[in-house]
Amino acid sequence: EKGGYDYFMLKEIAEQPKAVADTLLGRVDGTGSLSLDEVRISDSELREMDKIVIVACGTAFHSGLIAKYAIEHWTRIPCEVELASEFRYRDPILDQQTLVIAISQSGETMDTLMALRHAREQGARVLAICNTNGSTIPRESDAVLYTHAGPEIAVASTKAFLTQLVACYLVALYLGQVRGTKWGDEIRAVVRDLTRIPGAVEQVLGTMEPVRELARSLTAKNTVLFLGRHVGYPVALEGALKLKELAYMHAEGFAAGELKHGPIALIEQDLPVVVVVPSPRGRSVLHDKIVSNIQEIRARGARTVVIAEEGDEAVVPYADHLIRIPVTPTLLQPLVATVPLQVFACELATARGNEVDQPRNLAKSVTVE
Ligand code: F6R
Repeated sequence: EKGGYDYFMLKEIAEQPKAVADTLLGRVDGTGSLSLDEVRISDSELREMDKIVIVACGTAFHSGLIAKYAIEHWTRIPCEVELASEFRYRDPILDQQTLVIAISQSGETMDTLMALRHAREQGARVLAICNTNGSTIPRESDAVLYTHAGPEIAVASTKAFLTQLVACYLVALYLGQVRGTKWGDEIRAVVRDLTRIPGAVEQVLGTMEPVRELARSLTAKNTVLFLGRHVGYPVALEGALKLKELAYMHAEGFAAGELKHGPIALIEQDLPVVVVVPSPRGRSVLHDKIVSNIQEIRARGARTVVIAEEGDEAVVPYADHLIRIPVTPTLLQPLVATVPLQVFACELATARGNEVDQPRNLAKSVTVE
């Protein structure tokens, strides 16, 4: 049942191109108009929404952090993202014009379920993004958009994460369409970019041997840091989470702009620091800033592992290890940039002798608070 792979996690990483394609299937028709039939909240209600709040835990929370960038950029609706376990204990401001998006692979995570119940009690409408048909979270929501990742068995979430991102992008585009902030041609362009993602992920998967080799060379390290900016920041958080849960190493993700506000003090000789570099096209100011961040940490002895787009030559002089990803529009870059981090964590965990499908102390779905 592992389809020839040693671990479910490896199989699930390899299934990502299909998971992404399946999640797009039937939802985009190439005419530039989206139909998300399962979103049973009427267009007129969606037009009235003045706030979006995303609630989720763990990896699903990271997909929400990325979704915020797309939602605010494409819809101009303010969007907050909050850990489900924090959300309902702070008396959040919610009403009928709040759209709450609950993201959950299993659909059974107790904290997320309690958050959505609280939101509905306050009159908010809840849209679930979920991978498990008929599970509790979608059953208790007003609407659901299913991710079509197929069953995810490994405890560490991989393919579900990529499909959560796709679902979030689709919801963001749909809201943009309904509210008139995004139109036919623009939507068509993003949809076209999305349909190229399965191929791009396949390409990344085909070039992972150096990443595995690098991972094996770091088994004796105690700490790995991850840096990113913009959508690369949540990608850094996700890379760190994967490493903690699988390799049992101290790993932390930071916004690169925060370095000089504290974390740079952690940099010492040979400390591995993984940096997710935004595209040099588009918001190039972000790119320039991160290149100087890489310079700064390298000057202090860090061993830099740089994830950058093909053709990005500016990073080359400062990269001790360079991991190339295909050219992808900025907002969609997490769909490709996350993949090497999954492979990295999986290989490092295996090399340390850990059981990657069943990490210690963790359960696939957390049905207690
Ligand atoms: C990390 C991981 C967990 C889950 C989290 C939420 O790899 O798997 O952090 O993402 O427990 O689970 P769901 O998505 O089922 O609500």
